[in-house]
Amino acid sequence: MLVLGIESTCDDTCCAIVKDGDQILSNVISSQIEIHQEFGGVVPEIASRHHIEMMLPVIETACHQANIVLEDVDLIAVANEPGLLGSLLMGLHAAKGLALSLQKPFIGVNHIEAHLYAAIMSHPQKIQFPCLGVVLSGGHTAILLVKEIGKYQMIGHTIDDAIGEAFDKVAKMIDLPYPGGPQIEKMAQGIDPKHLFKAGQIKDSPFHFSFSGLKTAVLYAIQKDEISDKREIAAAFQEAAFQDVVKKTMRAAKEYGCQQIILGGGVTNSQYLRQLFDKQAPQLTCFWPGNNLSLDNAAMIAGLGYHKFKSSQGGDMFALEARPSGFMRI
Ligand code: KG4
Ligand code: ZN
Repeated sequence: MLVLGIESTCDDTCCAIVKDGDQILSNVISSQIEIHQEFGGVVPEIASRHHIEMMLPVIETACHQANIVLEDVDLIAVANEPGLLGSLLMGLHAAKGLALSLQKPFIGVNHIEAHLYAAIMSHPQKIQFPCLGVVLSGGHTAILLVKEIGKYQMIGHTIDDAIGEAFDKVAKMIDLPYPGGPQIEKMAQGIDPKHLFKAGQIKDSPFHFSFSGLKTAVLYAIQKDEISDKREIAAAFQEAAFQDVVKKTMRAAKEYGCQQIILGGGVTNSQYLRQLFDKQAPQLTCFWPGNNLSLDNAAMIAGLGYHKFKSSQGGDMFALEARPSGFMRI
């Protein structure tokens, strides 16, 4: 089954062709980073406008690279939640238009759920359910028990900033461009991290996250001139944020009896985070997203769309709406 996936939840216009849920024939990503960089973050209105411009060329390129024509496609999958409303609408309308003109079914996919699926679809080893799911993206941070694809139980989530958002804000404080995560990782490289900061702990909720206090602690340290070397700030912040993720994941894995962990979202692109898990949690088998599957992409949307379609009654209706804040409805 050939699935055409569309992803436009934030500032990337993406289209992919995926066969049977895991064979990626093409995975085209048109990034808007350079456009938003001068504003220090994503400007929603500008993002929507660029999605309109890039959507059709990106779809054409994805078909071309997969060596197929649109008529070969069996299903259109689109990320309809969560994300920026204007951006979501661009992808959703494109998907509905395609499905209507090609007379093919279409299905809406949750972008965050797809981030977790990205780790499964690209891993040579077969996943054993239940496993633990860890979402680390620019808008979400959560630990979930994954009972099977489509069935989740929330274990913990952030009560304030998402982890990627905290990286982006701290990067701004030390004059690094958007998106801050990769810049902080680069700047911290080779620096022995000092344990100067700590992420928030929530009383009686050991699996919840809080990064807002950590971010403010970094700001105060800069303002009071406690650390003047930006590389040390980057390394100490990164260490505090990631140690928190590793520790809470290890504790949840123990409590819920899981040995396999699937991790997804843009922050999982960090090689430093992957090394930290290897070093501190060698007993866990971590499923990381493969190349070009950590950050926003449409291959994960097409892949998950395939599974959702198989368990649905012929896909979604054209009345399907964009849901900006639809995290996992579990
Ligand atoms: O999943 P994603 O592409 O978009 C959302 O769905 O939010 O995640 C983007 C986030 C940004 O906040 C970016 O700074 C962060 O992922 N990120 C990183 C790294 N690479 C990307 N954070 C830490 N270290 C990295 N290497
Ligand atoms: Zn994302």
